[in-house]
Amino acid sequence: MALTRVMRLLSTAFLASAALADVRTYDFTVGWVNRNPDGQHERRVMAINGQWPIPTIHATVGDQVVVNFKNDLGDRPCSLHFHGLYMNGTTHMDGVAQSTQCPVPAGSVFTYSFNVTQPGTYWYHSHVDGQYPDGLRGPLIVRDPENPYADQFDEELVLTLSDWYHDEMPGLISSFLSVTNPTGAEPVPNSALMNDTQNLQIPVQPGKTYFIRIVNMAAFAAQYFWIEGHTFRIIELDGIYHKPTEAEQIYLTAAQRVGILLTTKNQTTDNFAVVGSMDQDLFDQIPDGLNPNVTSYLVYNKDAPMPNATDIEEFNPFDDTELVPTDEEALYEDPAVSYTIDVKMDNLRDGTNYAFFNDVTFVRPKVPTLYTVLTSGDLATNETVYGVNTHPLILSHNQVVEIVLNNHDPGKHPFHLHGHAFQVLHRGAEEGGDWDPEALRNGSVTYPATPMRRDTLLVRPNGNFVIRFRSDNPGVWLFHCHIEWHVDSGLILTFVEAPLQLQQQLNGKIPEDHFDACRAQDMPIEGNAAGNTVNLLDTTGMNVSPGLLPEGFTPKGIVALTFSILAGLLGIATIVWYGLGEISNVEQREAEQKIDAFAEKSGGVVEVSGVHAASIRSGGGHAGSGPLQTR
Ligand code: C2O
Repeated sequence: MALTRVMRLLSTAFLASAALADVRTYDFTVGWVNRNPDGQHERRVMAINGQWPIPTIHATVGDQVVVNFKNDLGDRPCSLHFHGLYMNGTTHMDGVAQSTQCPVPAGSVFTYSFNVTQPGTYWYHSHVDGQYPDGLRGPLIVRDPENPYADQFDEELVLTLSDWYHDEMPGLISSFLSVTNPTGAEPVPNSALMNDTQNLQIPVQPGKTYFIRIVNMAAFAAQYFWIEGHTFRIIELDGIYHKPTEAEQIYLTAAQRVGILLTTKNQTTDNFAVVGSMDQDLFDQIPDGLNPNVTSYLVYNKDAPMPNATDIEEFNPFDDTELVPTDEEALYEDPAVSYTIDVKMDNLRDGTNYAFFNDVTFVRPKVPTLYTVLTSGDLATNETVYGVNTHPLILSHNQVVEIVLNNHDPGKHPFHLHGHAFQVLHRGAEEGGDWDPEALRNGSVTYPATPMRRDTLLVRPNGNFVIRFRSDNPGVWLFHCHIEWHVDSGLILTFVEAPLQLQQQLNGKIPEDHFDACRAQDMPIEGNAAGNTVNLLDTTGMNVSPGLLPEGFTPKGIVALTFSILAGLLGIATIVWYGLGEISNVEQREAEQKIDAFAEKSGGVVEVSGVHAASIRSGGGHAGSGPLQTR
């Protein structure tokens, strides 16, 4: 009798959850429309079903989401990535071109289907060719029937922040990844947007509490965010609930999300400015007339004036590392493996400035890394098969993994891990230098007992951070800077997590339309990174980055030389040259002498960083994610 009762309980529970779980189907055709979101310039943007801003994807925890995706862009491939979702069991739906799928060619259809197992604020965006800043990015909201703060708010709002460019990405990427931009100065946005517009009015009622989900969908700019005359309580970071903590101003990097509770005032006389301000420290040079701010209004009374935002003396945002997750998940045990990853920017022989993790700049493989996992048998645990420039790190199943990231660059970077949220153990100060484990031993740093968790984290200029996660999610997961320019210049590495378990999970289960996408573009779907299916350890022919500069060459020197040769070759009188000060005659002469000496040493033959007009335009052997790639 007891048994029947248990059975009945079980089946009711099963029915209840089955009734709750829905299939949310979205039919998305991606194409072009014209828009002028900052009122300064009309341009072509990537829309969905003729709609821009693109629609928000809504789901409830437990739902299955199906996106029937059609690429109607006409002339370029596309993909959709669902940022922050763990995709447990469905790494092949993560949407990363040449990592988890082939990009979807123009004119083709492709179905994304996955279960949503986590509540929170996410977003979705193209993950191919630095494409999303052209408009293909929107919020993805997962409602939670068990939201622990449900009784503390009356209404939910979604607010997106972003930066905006008047030019389209392919052109911007070619000038960014170019010998004429040897310092790697990133294109500066033309303006900032909120909900893809400016001067947005947000109607509110007095004495109510709103759960505002804020998503920064920027290509580049982090934003400071505040609401004049109000404080708010942070309760969510990147989908993870944190204990409500009062703040006046927050800092949201590209790709970060935050959920806040805002209680409105008991009045209906005044309206208040809601301000987003792009962090101009990120910009190498600030164009004349740039307005870094975007203002919206909290509208208590639509007939009252919309006040201008007041200038503030200095920024003083809340430090997210101080937050404590609501579930109080304890600090993971000492890691089974700890990777120390140094970040730097440097020039390669083509004169272009690239971004590196431990001296490797990412170049995408010929075979999507996931398909290499699935077709390399026991060799899937051997990093060789994935190719040098995917920067593969192979993880065993169910271990604690630590990343120590040292930023050797004077810029700020937001790092994102696919497939996981991570615990943040430490973040060093600006100019604080590399992480030193001695700090733990001598007690000058202690790890928090219940560390903050999120999926995208800022590292400070020449600072560091230490994070941990559990390798409990077999898959191919990128770790990368979420400044889209740095995705294009190679600041990416690939975690190949539990490849043998992944084979068991997915072999024979990849839907045919995934392979069709590859076939339509003659992209191989098996073998190692070079497409070799016979000898998996032979990666001859794999995509690689341009070589290193010859020893003794300063980047500036080779660039000076390259530039003069290039200018000579192309007969260019003037070249748009930004980010680098004047190259003096002395520097140029020095560079020429060095290259002569190098030419002598190497028997009179010197390939000057592959400099000939054709390779500059096509990118030569560079097969990165930008349009410079040869494929
Ligand atoms: Cu928003 Cu690789 O991700």
